[in-house]
Amino acid sequence: MTTATNGKTPVRRETFSSRRLFILSAIGSAVGLGNIWRFPYVAYENGGGAFLIPYLAALLTAGIPLLFFDYAVGHKFRGSAPLAFRRLARPAEALGWWQVLVCFVIAVYYAVIIAWSSMYTIFSVTKAWGEDPEAFFMGDFLQRAGAATEASVSLDFVPGILIPLIIVWIVTIGIMIAGVSKGIARANAIFLPLLVVMFVILVVQSLFLPGAVDGLNAFFTPSWEALGDPSVWAAAYGHIFFSLSVGFGIMVTYSSYLKRKTDLTGSGLVVGFANSAFEILAGIGVFAAIGFMAQAAGTTVADQATGGIGLAFIAFPAIVSEAPAGQLIGVLFFGSLVFAGVTSLISILEVIVAAVQDKLGAGRTFSTLIVSIPMAIISIVLFPTTTGLYVLDTVDGFVNQFGIVAGALVAVIVVVWIYRKLPSLREHVNRYSSFKLGGVWFILAGVIAPVVLAYMLVTEIIAKSTESYSGYPLWFNAIFGWGMSVALIVFAILMSFVPWSAKSKLNFDPEYDAIRDAENAEADSYTKGGQR
Ligand code: ALA
Repeated sequence: MTTATNGKTPVRRETFSSRRLFILSAIGSAVGLGNIWRFPYVAYENGGGAFLIPYLAALLTAGIPLLFFDYAVGHKFRGSAPLAFRRLARPAEALGWWQVLVCFVIAVYYAVIIAWSSMYTIFSVTKAWGEDPEAFFMGDFLQRAGAATEASVSLDFVPGILIPLIIVWIVTIGIMIAGVSKGIARANAIFLPLLVVMFVILVVQSLFLPGAVDGLNAFFTPSWEALGDPSVWAAAYGHIFFSLSVGFGIMVTYSSYLKRKTDLTGSGLVVGFANSAFEILAGIGVFAAIGFMAQAAGTTVADQATGGIGLAFIAFPAIVSEAPAGQLIGVLFFGSLVFAGVTSLISILEVIVAAVQDKLGAGRTFSTLIVSIPMAIISIVLFPTTTGLYVLDTVDGFVNQFGIVAGALVAVIVVVWIYRKLPSLREHVNRYSSFKLGGVWFILAGVIAPVVLAYMLVTEIIAKSTESYSGYPLWFNAIFGWGMSVALIVFAILMSFVPWSAKSKLNFDPEYDAIRDAENAEADSYTKGGQR
């Protein structure tokens, strides 16, 4: 809740009213589209069962250490990403804005996929895609029949996408306006348990489909030679940041709403392992279903396996059409995408809303509207058009690498190597945490993670500059890929020169702890118990 300001009192920061609600919200953010449609295919493509080794290595050596890093920055400096980085060091503010802008871009297309999923939840009931889900998706739904490789720009609106997209934005804006504790925490407390129940039913049902075991064999059979391929390791590291919601401001923002005496590392371990457990469960469910489809179509699992948009909107509808009780599978699968998507989307939006709130010293409702309405308009103008699919694919492919991975690398270099803040961050985290960070964290967050990230980034720059992404025209890559990635950095630097509201104290103040204590005492007087 934000107490009214009379121009003198600083805006009071909201808090998660309990650690449980923070953990639920952080898991809600982490478990998203990335877990359900991206992980199963990335794992399958990169060595199957053997992929679990680089995956676990990426989780333990970079994902969780940088999750602690994000928690430390957000909780110690107690602000949105730009404010927290600004308090850490003046020039680092631009880094926070870079993360905010990455979230801006992701949110705009993430909302579109949630809108598609909500339509497909309804389509599942009648199997509206008929005999040919691909033709339906490209033709009837996206109105792109016969033009799958031709990227261009047009503004022909597709009403079937426009209306659900408007609904997604209205619901999300409503949650955001309600605030951290009444909106975000409450939405997660409802949606996350629902998601888990639906998804477990889906996985169990998939496991009983004929042919499921072939899918699981394909998914888990280790291809050990893959471990010698650096691109497999890069795939694991590339996936883990998006999946854990690390490196793009989300965890910095969420942890800034935690009370002072919070067990940060204990919470981080719960979040990290819950996210991975969900991801592996998704792999089992998706591949069991693909195994069924392969058997029904008389093909191999390799012929059926695909990821992302192809998996969700082409392969899954085919499974729904063929499987016994297919409608239920469809409703559970697409409904899970909607719930997982919404809980992640609100965390992505919170990064931007919190930053604007801090920069302008404005109230919650105003900041939410000033952020969300332009975003909703961009997503409505850009995506429910006949070219939306290509824009989405290109933006997604570039922002993950040149937004998240690059941003995480620069953050580590700036904080660890230029400003040498790791020891003070460790001291902060260790004060109330159950699992104490030691020298190993320095090595992982300060050395291993940046080396791996730098390697990945260079490989990606070479790959994306030597061949056209997804076979799209060069001008298309140049605008929606490279142009967008560079524009984010330029805008981030410009934003760091925009003056702050007088209400935002810019210098790091050791008094934050005292302020937090006072707020905790006040909060604890009406919520029983501590937060550890
Ligand atoms: N962590 C979120 C996902 O996996 C963004 O989709």
